[in-house]
Amino acid sequence: MGLGSIIVLLSGCAGDKSILAPAGQAAADVALVWWAMLGFFTLVFVVVVVLWLYAFRRGERPERTQEQERRIARRWIVGGGLLLPGVSIVALLAFGIPAGQRMLPIPLNDPPDVIEVIGHQWWWEVRYPGAEGGEVVTANQLVMPVGEPVDFHVTGADVIHSFWVPRLGGKIDMVPGHTNRIRLEADAAGVFGGQCGEFCGTQHAHMQLYVEAMERDDYEAWLAQRQRESLQSLAVRSEAQAPAREAFMDNCARCHRVAGLSDGEDGPDLSDVGTRPALGAGTLAMEEGAIARWLKNHQQLKPGNRMPSHDDMEAETLDAIGAWLETLNP
Ligand code: CUA
Repeated sequence: MGLGSIIVLLSGCAGDKSILAPAGQAAADVALVWWAMLGFFTLVFVVVVVLWLYAFRRGERPERTQEQERRIARRWIVGGGLLLPGVSIVALLAFGIPAGQRMLPIPLNDPPDVIEVIGHQWWWEVRYPGAEGGEVVTANQLVMPVGEPVDFHVTGADVIHSFWVPRLGGKIDMVPGHTNRIRLEADAAGVFGGQCGEFCGTQHAHMQLYVEAMERDDYEAWLAQRQRESLQSLAVRSEAQAPAREAFMDNCARCHRVAGLSDGEDGPDLSDVGTRPALGAGTLAMEEGAIARWLKNHQQLKPGNRMPSHDDMEAETLDAIGAWLETLNP
């Protein structure tokens, strides 16, 4: 019965954000600490219940003197109240310190790739400063190589956020004006969910990150596709969509960057928005027409988000801008 309810409860922990489904060594260490704590505290719980029942059954012992009673009580207090917690805390530390150390970005002979992640209310800016041919920028999706450590340099743009990809390890605070560093590694290619781990305002829950780990060659190819020149040619390839592009330049370019066209920095970079699995940092799944729907209803879908409402714009214009943005897919 007890085991049954634990299994039912834990089934809710499966999925792309479960710390109990580690996909890298750092996360495996955290999961091990979790299981060790569950096991140990289950044992403590059982022992306490058994002693409690025993005390009930046994009742008072008139044959003992007051002095004897006091001595026995003192033993329980020292053993159960000081020794046991002391030993358990030291054991947990012995478990926990190596787990934390693995995520420290200590210098290596072969320095890992650096990916910068900046938390905004309420979205993620992701930069690849080491990309050949110039910096690559994306938003709300993070692509990383598999089977090698990656150093994440994180900071906050406005308030404190927290970078957390539970299946890889973490988490670490993103503090404005300060850069924190964490080293993570994915053991196998796959897609992992990330979530802001620090309450940062009303849309904190809608601050999700899509993390994809891929083989080194695929990763290099992905970066190459996001060079300014290739993204620019993508953005201007269709003559039929020139009016939509112009409407974007008039209304959106001040805040949004599209490589080669605009340089806005207040909102997410949209240069490859057509490849993203979701809009609004996990608010709305990407599908045909989703961007236009987002443009028309984003304040209902994600109330309080920093993008102004577009009520003053024609529905057809928003449809056209959405359709053009969907083609930004290398
Ligand atoms: Cu950003 Cu919570």
